[in-house]
Amino acid sequence: MTAEQNLKDTTVVVIGASRGIGLGLVERLHEAGASVIATARKPDEAAAKLPKGVRVEALDITKADSVEAFAKKVDKIDTLIVNAAVGHADLMKDTDAAQLQWYLDSNVVGAHRAVLALLPALRSGAKKQIVLISSTSGSLEKQVGATSGFTGPYAVTKAATNMLAVQYHNELHKEGFTVIPIHPGWVATDMGLEAGVNPKGPQPISIETSSSGIVNVVAQLTPDKSATFFQYDGVKLPW
Ligand SMILES: NC(=O)c1ccc[n+]([C@@H]2O[C@H](COP(=O)([O-])OP(=O)(O)OC[C@H]3O[C@@H](n4cnc5c(N)ncnc54)[C@H](OP(=O)(O)O)[C@@H]3O)[C@@H](O)[C@H]2O)c1
Repeated sequence: MTAEQNLKDTTVVVIGASRGIGLGLVERLHEAGASVIATARKPDEAAAKLPKGVRVEALDITKADSVEAFAKKVDKIDTLIVNAAVGHADLMKDTDAAQLQWYLDSNVVGAHRAVLALLPALRSGAKKQIVLISSTSGSLEKQVGATSGFTGPYAVTKAATNMLAVQYHNELHKEGFTVIPIHPGWVATDMGLEAGVNPKGPQPISIETSSSGIVNVVAQLTPDKSATFFQYDGVKLPW
């Protein structure tokens, strides 16, 4: 089956779709015929950039009332993609406790908030898929000795994102859920470009390449692949 056949008429929620990879994911999913519900902190601004026909709702992943209000508007979801995150080139030794709390609240507690609030709608959906946008920064194996890309508190949150996926897999797989973290690649977005580009070194991939790859992985997702750490091109990554 093609990606289009697998995604056609399924309901996919993308959390954090105002720009970057999230916006790319919504465009690709819409092209593939999915019924997409996109969320953004500023839905009117996001709606102006997103394809017509995409439903756009307000959601700030750090605010429980905002997440709850969104959850009340959605009855059935096949696939939930949690893309929203913050990331900067910070080091642990320069990060105070309040700053680490902000990172964790946005990237880890935020993802948990969204999954928990949307579980009833996911249970009503046929596919029962939860996709957490993670990063190779969250791979313990790849981070030992790492000097490039975002390290520090961002890496801490992405390792926790991976564990969130594993724990949700352990608790929900028997109900038919598929839960994966996926690394989108190094992508030319606001966040990706903050890491700095060396004109003579490797270059970031485009939003289109990353989001097409992720949508392809999602389209081919089956329960036996749950708790696998994927890269955007389907390559399996080490934890
Ligand atoms: N770019 C890369 O190279 C790269 C590499 C590895 C992993 N990733 C991961 O890929 C995902 C997307 O990254 P990106 O590069 O597209 O980043 P980006 O361009 O900085 O976009 C981040 C998105 O997250 C949203 N967001 C941030 N805080 C939020 C909150 N409290 N509530 C709701 N939405 C919030 C932003 O919304 P606003 O517009 O409202 O701020 C925006 O839509 C992230 O999970 C990131 O960690 C990216």
